[in-house]
Amino acid sequence: MRILVIGSGGREHALVKGLASDPAVKEVHAAPGNPGMAAQATCHPEARDVANADAMVALAREISADLVVIGPEIPLVAGVSDAVREAGFAVFGPSKAAAQIEGSKAFAKDVMAAAGVATARAEQVLPDSTDDAVERALDNFGPMYVVKDDGLAGGKGVVVTADRAAARQHVFAVHAAGNPVLLESFLDGPEVSLFCLVDGETVVPLLPAQDHKRAYDNDEGPNTGGMGAYTPLPWLPEDGVQRIVDEVCVPVAKEMAARGVPYSGLLYAGLAWGAEGPAVVEFNCRFGDPETQPVLSMLKSPLGEALNAVATGKLAELPPLEWEDGYALTVVLAAEGYPDNPQKGATITSPDLDDPAKILHAGSALAEANTDGQFVANGGRVLSILGKGATLEDARAAAYEVIEGVEMPGSFYRKDIGLKAANGGISIP
Ligand code: GLY
Repeated sequence: MRILVIGSGGREHALVKGLASDPAVKEVHAAPGNPGMAAQATCHPEARDVANADAMVALAREISADLVVIGPEIPLVAGVSDAVREAGFAVFGPSKAAAQIEGSKAFAKDVMAAAGVATARAEQVLPDSTDDAVERALDNFGPMYVVKDDGLAGGKGVVVTADRAAARQHVFAVHAAGNPVLLESFLDGPEVSLFCLVDGETVVPLLPAQDHKRAYDNDEGPNTGGMGAYTPLPWLPEDGVQRIVDEVCVPVAKEMAARGVPYSGLLYAGLAWGAEGPAVVEFNCRFGDPETQPVLSMLKSPLGEALNAVATGKLAELPPLEWEDGYALTVVLAAEGYPDNPQKGATITSPDLDDPAKILHAGSALAEANTDGQFVANGGRVLSILGKGATLEDARAAAYEVIEGVEMPGSFYRKDIGLKAANGGISIP
């Protein structure tokens, strides 16, 4: 198989690495990709406008792709999968209509209500609302306020706070950007990210993971796209994954099929595990970043075969997925100023920069001139450092040993990824 992966982040590097290790995959291409994945894929840096359907179709034709895998939500919500499918290619990624499960929170809430899936109570507040209307809407929530940018914000548009003034300030900031706000009731309990391969009504879960969304240790600081993740979850009840599949993912897949909007691709259920079990915080229409990095590092089955089975409507025929024993963990190295104002250009040095078992590249680039392959920061989340081990503590130790060998002026990372779980400090309310 010749596979084109659309996207350029750490998630896409994990996909590229997994696909390149599948014996049935002869070539991996990435659009645009990033220079850190160049040993596993042919990158097409000119194809940087990943929401440009014509450009993605032209590239799929140029390389005679057997399968196109779409990583980020922006091209999916823009309908790139439909255009590439209509041009005759097998595509891993939902249609524009199905990608509304992430692109439109109102659509997602409607599907969940019809499917009987537990989720937060929500109210949309439009940008032209008066100050009084904003106050009345806030009155319906609290003492914890969950204020979300009701557009695509890559996880960064969410403020969770007990401070009403901070909640109000975020409402006005989102409105000032022209977007509606979604106020939600707070879901108590530890968070779970469960990725499922979905092909119509067939649902195959991957390993459950937990993201760390705040920028700093002890879950302090602003929300980010994700600063680290680990898998699997030692604190999750034994039947936890099956409950999420049965109570959340299968009912949603069935409801979408019944509406004539069947889902094909990766359905990411972001959940809180409360006293009653799982409740949905959000759905995403793609693999999550950075959870994909540790999750795929544990997959023993061929990734190309699995994604192709979804893309060709044959997921029900796929043999059960096999996973390594033990744990995997990723720690994100972020650029100075992330998430608000990440600084580009800092040089990155590490003995492991070319080893995708230890470092996956995200916002990195090659320095421009005469620098002999010198990598520099080119985005907020620059590298995803991986560690694996028989225990979660071993996986943490492996990842932190690698990250301590990375030098990048101004960079920072969380020191407590997976720590609470490793210490037995996560419990269900
Ligand atoms: N890890 C959060 C996200 O991918 O949206």
